[in-house]
Amino acid sequence: MEIKGRVVVVTGGASGIGAAMARRFASEGAERVIVCDIDGGAARSVASRIDGDAFTLDVADEGATVEVLGEVEAEYGRIDVLCLNAGIPTGGSVDATNEDWQRTWDVNVMAHVYATRHALPGMLDRGEGYILTTASAAGLLTNIGAAPYSVTKHAAVALAEWISVTYGSRGIRVSCLCPMFVSTPMLDAFSGHTDAMRDWVEGLAIDVDDVADSVIAGIREETFLILPHPAVRDYFQHKALDYDRWIAGMQSLNDQVTRAE
Ligand SMILES: NC(=O)c1ccc[n+]([C@@H]2O[C@H](COP(=O)([O-])OP(=O)(O)OC[C@H]3O[C@@H](n4cnc5c(N)ncnc54)[C@H](O)[C@@H]3O)[C@@H](O)[C@H]2O)c1
Repeated sequence: MEIKGRVVVVTGGASGIGAAMARRFASEGAERVIVCDIDGGAARSVASRIDGDAFTLDVADEGATVEVLGEVEAEYGRIDVLCLNAGIPTGGSVDATNEDWQRTWDVNVMAHVYATRHALPGMLDRGEGYILTTASAAGLLTNIGAAPYSVTKHAAVALAEWISVTYGSRGIRVSCLCPMFVSTPMLDAFSGHTDAMRDWVEGLAIDVDDVADSVIAGIREETFLILPHPAVRDYFQHKALDYDRWIAGMQSLNDQVTRAE
């Protein structure tokens, strides 16, 4: 799909990857880019620079999501591209609090259910629509030091995959964006507390505009996986080919980057 002339909604569009995607969609000639974020002021600031619209939205609130998407459909007649990008980087082990697990599930997974549930009927009626979810390489591999994040991102990949399998023959295209580290405010959460972890994360981090390039190419080619770090494809293949070997390798990496100096 080409972005030119499309009505595009981006959640988590006020910062980082979402803001870069919103800017790129505008420069690709989208009819309108709608920036939604829990931080309404920052969403307005991104939208004002690309002649877009902004909404304050907590994506974990289904009622609010229905209202915002309904307003967009009323104004522009349709949603062509729905980018479900808002996410939170909850770290910790199984001992993260139940509240943290639940909030991470609600934002990283249920928000995709809510928005898709509302946007899908119109897309199916028109026989076309594009859903792009921002999961993470953590959803294909894992994220050291962050159980709630890794588990919910796996679920986000699973949901995107299921939607694609189920509705692909009815014109619904789905891409799942799975970057490793990207230089955004979220990176601090991944950097952990050791120098080794920080060096590892920073060494792999790419710029948001590189992610936006991959997104445009992925949507144009309509590929399911969009992998701004090409090595993720190799790691994913290694994991599938020999799970035990992959886990052994990840155990070494875990010990290496989490060891206190
Ligand atoms: N930065 C990375 O290294 C990295 C790597 C892989 C995947 N991701 C994913 O990319 C997406 C964007 O992250 P980013 O790195 O640009 O981070 P970011 O912190 O720069 O942006 C995240 C945005 O989401 C918004 N947000 C958070 N909770 C929300 C909610 N409940 N409702 C609406 N908006 C909400 C924030 O206000 C913020 O504007 C996330 O889903 C993240 O998990 C990030």
